[in-house]
Amino acid sequence: MSIISKDISKAVSLLNEEEIVAIPTETVYGLAGNIYSEKAIKAIFETKQRPFFNPLIVHISSVNYLSTIAEDISEKANNLAEAFWPGPLTMVLKKKNTIPELITAGKDTVAIRIPNHPVTLELLDQLDFPLAAPSANPFSSISPTTAQHVEDYFGGKIKMVLDGGACRSGIESTIVGFENDEPIIYRLGSTSVEAIENVLGKIQIKNRKNNQPDAPGMLSKHYAPKCKLILSEDISETLQNYKKQKTGVLAFQNKIIDRHIFSQIILSENGNLEEAATNLYDAMHQLDKQDLDLIIAEKFPDYGLGKSINDRLERATKN
Ligand code: TXA
Ligand code: MG
Repeated sequence: MSIISKDISKAVSLLNEEEIVAIPTETVYGLAGNIYSEKAIKAIFETKQRPFFNPLIVHISSVNYLSTIAEDISEKANNLAEAFWPGPLTMVLKKKNTIPELITAGKDTVAIRIPNHPVTLELLDQLDFPLAAPSANPFSSISPTTAQHVEDYFGGKIKMVLDGGACRSGIESTIVGFENDEPIIYRLGSTSVEAIENVLGKIQIKNRKNNQPDAPGMLSKHYAPKCKLILSEDISETLQNYKKQKTGVLAFQNKIIDRHIFSQIILSENGNLEEAATNLYDAMHQLDKQDLDLIIAEKFPDYGLGKSINDRLERATKN
């Protein structure tokens, strides 16, 4: 029987019983639990097979709760909250003592965001605790952007996926932290660098690609399909090296005509980066189901959400 359901009150009951529930957000689906329940938080890490050194994001429904989670909130942080919440921006702030270390992996900071999804905002309003929610995928695989993706991953392991439709933004939130009051982007995501710079001015990016465990979740291998993925500036040329392989193509805007392609997905025929981001993970899930030898993905323009898409594609090449 399917675990996908639109029943918010059922999700409320399960979460009150310290169970975990997959929830929709505008970016990707999250695997959620009560931040104060050790049982729920451990279940999140276990279900995802996520290492405990990788901290979780706390989801709240209103900026009114911010001061119950974080302290020393700077003017810059307030400006970002005002500009982007609810929305795909996560802020890393000094944590309150009351926030369990299991959530923050022992750090003295905590990651927080207000998701912009009506179903999850309603759910949060009916709970008297915030929700910790990492993306609802097994560690290092492609993030889910539909309830079905989550069921495919965790069908036998969790009791419910709260269905909120397909995610509108399609890639994870952008993460911003502060070092000596200077804002820093730790993870590129659905809020573009340019949009953040409009609020705060020039901003540094430390979107690390190494394997340092304390780098905010930015392990080099991530978001990866099961089959090999190659990033290419010129798909037709790259195809020449793989003529004998069963190859899938992930193209930005233009269809590639080549008889060596087994299947092809265009992410945005209009060349719209937002639309391409929305479609990215679903396209990767679809290609990954076709038993391919190889996926060749087209490199995106390096601005706006193209930068974030390239980041995800680069990490997906590391398997
Ligand atoms: O869009 C999103 O952010 C989705 C939805 C479900 O909200 N969530 C998500 O969670 O992408 P997750 O766990 O897959 O990624 C959270 C990232 C991790 O890379 C983690 O290392 C980083 O946030 N993070 C969490 N707490 C942190 C902290 N205190 N300092 C630095 N990075 C932190
Ligand atoms: Mg994730």
